[in-house]
Amino acid sequence: MFNYIPRIAYVVTALSSLSMVTAINLDINNKSSVCDAAKIVMNGALNYYEGLKYGGTVGMFAPPNYWWNAGEAFGGIVDYFSFCDSNNKTLESLIMDAMYHQAGENFNYVPSNQSMTEGNDDQGVWAMAIMQAVERNFTNPESHSWLELTIAAFNTMNSRWDTEHCNGGLRWQIFSWNSGYDYKNSIANGCLFHLAARLARYLDNDTYAQVAEKVWDWMVDVGFLVDDTGNVTLYDGADISTNCTDLTKKQWSYTYGIFMAGAAYMYDYNQDNKWLKGATDLVDTSSWFFENDIMVERQCFFSKTCNNDQRSFRSLFSRCLGLTSLLVNSTHNQISTWIQTSAKGAAASCNGGTDGVTCGQDWSKGTWDGIFGLGEQTGALEVINAVIVTTPDKLSQVPKAQADAVMSSIDFNSGLGSQDNVNLNEITVTGKDKAGAGALTAIVLAIILAGGIWMVL
Ligand SMILES: *[C@@H]1O[C@H](CO)[C@@H](O)[C@H](O)[C@H]1NC(C)=O
Ligand SMILES: *[C@@H]1O[C@H](CO)[C@@H](O)[C@H](O)[C@H]1NC(C)=O
Ligand SMILES: *[C@@H]1O[C@H](CO)[C@@H](O)[C@H](O)[C@H]1NC(C)=O
Ligand SMILES: *[C@@H]1O[C@H](CO)[C@@H](O)[C@H](O)[C@H]1NC(C)=O
Ligand SMILES: *[C@@H]1O[C@H](CO)[C@@H](O)[C@H](O)[C@H]1NC(C)=O
Ligand SMILES: *[C@@H]1O[C@H](CO)[C@@H](O)[C@H](O)[C@H]1NC(C)=O
Ligand SMILES: *[C@@H]1O[C@H](CO)[C@@H](O)[C@H](O)[C@H]1NC(C)=O
Ligand SMILES: *[C@@H]1O[C@H](CO)[C@@H](O)[C@H](O)[C@H]1NC(C)=O
Repeated sequence: MFNYIPRIAYVVTALSSLSMVTAINLDINNKSSVCDAAKIVMNGALNYYEGLKYGGTVGMFAPPNYWWNAGEAFGGIVDYFSFCDSNNKTLESLIMDAMYHQAGENFNYVPSNQSMTEGNDDQGVWAMAIMQAVERNFTNPESHSWLELTIAAFNTMNSRWDTEHCNGGLRWQIFSWNSGYDYKNSIANGCLFHLAARLARYLDNDTYAQVAEKVWDWMVDVGFLVDDTGNVTLYDGADISTNCTDLTKKQWSYTYGIFMAGAAYMYDYNQDNKWLKGATDLVDTSSWFFENDIMVERQCFFSKTCNNDQRSFRSLFSRCLGLTSLLVNSTHNQISTWIQTSAKGAAASCNGGTDGVTCGQDWSKGTWDGIFGLGEQTGALEVINAVIVTTPDKLSQVPKAQADAVMSSIDFNSGLGSQDNVNLNEITVTGKDKAGAGALTAIVLAIILAGGIWMVL
């Protein structure tokens, strides 16, 4: 993800005045009404999907959305399918194709042609979508199970754990030529923690729990997660050149969500008070992301500076809040209040665009605010999904592995042995090659910039 690299926003001027206003109705106490709303919002997200278009890439969304945005979107789309439309074969194969196609040559969510953009967090967000498919029992591909693919992504991420700098932690980037390679951040480590916790619980296997412990304890030790008094701060990250001491003091909702839900899975796994306190503290401090119970990406929202990535963070945050509320019962009331109020606001923002159902960024206005994109659609989709999750209902339980059938077929080493583990590039790329890679990045960026300017003109 690119919190530091400015992106060219594509200017779409197609929004004409031919508006047939059909605002979305959302009765949060009526599941069919919630699913009807979710369907409209989800179809709005699919408007940006390239995989069905001539010449488009299966699994990808239109620019300025990058590879990771697709992983983020499919996590919410899998949930929508499971909750609301699980007999829809067309949608099922769309999801199947997209999620399987992007697994890459080594089936671990490091496709070689994303090496100019993919960081540990991007791989982690894709793996979270695949884990969503595991827990929802989404139909498996013929040649690999979703579980095996999740384990492969997890294994490659965990193998990049770097004790040489800052006494541990994942770097932000996987590849040394990408800007941010010398930065360690909370979101990359949060993805590893979150996946470890979910795998520990799903497989009832302590090997994964130990990884979750390792990541959490390092996050505390390095000062990313809590301050000296133990209060949650969960800052963005820091550079290895300062031994991770120059904290970038920015806070993002999805980082809170990913750690919170990871702690909730760990609590469900071993009932340790460490995790109850961890999840509860993160829920409590997440109140910063609400204004009158309506979710806001506070770091950038009021200053109107949210970039394309940041505009989507509330989707993952909502998903994680929903999961947390199921696994840590004592958080259920607070989270339900936030979700229900935010979902009503989000649905009310979806009366924009030529279709009259385009969603906006500001969920407090009761109407569209003129901002639109994949992030606005997926944010609204997942907060509406979370209404279903937080309503006690057997569909919304979080399943564990169904014993033998699953267990006997797992390759616990999947993903390992490929070229995508460890920080290989750091070791193998010589100074000269590095300069070459840097120049290549510059050329690619120049081409992208030129293309973006051309689009605007
Ligand atoms: C629930 O919502 C559905 C779909 O919007 C609607 O047809 C139905 O009448 C609603 N049921 C109740 C009890 O309001
Ligand atoms: C299946 O889902 C797609 C995408 O939401 C939708 O366009 C289509 O109408 C659905 N099909 C049926 C039979 O409901
Ligand atoms: C990248 O690789 C995938 C397969 O991993 C391929 O389907 C896709 O067309 C390639 N190109 C882009 C732009 O994603
Ligand atoms: C999961 O789906 C398979 C078919 O895809 C089915 O046989 C199995 O019963 C399902 N398991 C659960 C727990 O729903
Ligand atoms: C570097 O940071 C780590 C993590 O905070 C800490 O454990 C270690 O002692 C630090 N090393 C030095 C030399 O300050
Ligand atoms: C830590 O949190 C407590 C309770 O919310 C608060 O009173 C205290 O001022 C906080 N400490 C710091 C250093 O912010
Ligand atoms: C929490 O769990 C208890 C026991 O399982 C149940 O009685 C109670 O209703 C739950 N509370 C909430 C807020 O869901
Ligand atoms: C737990 O996971 C580890 C590492 O993936 C694996 O080697 C081990 O066999 C698993 N244990 C069980 C009981 O499945």
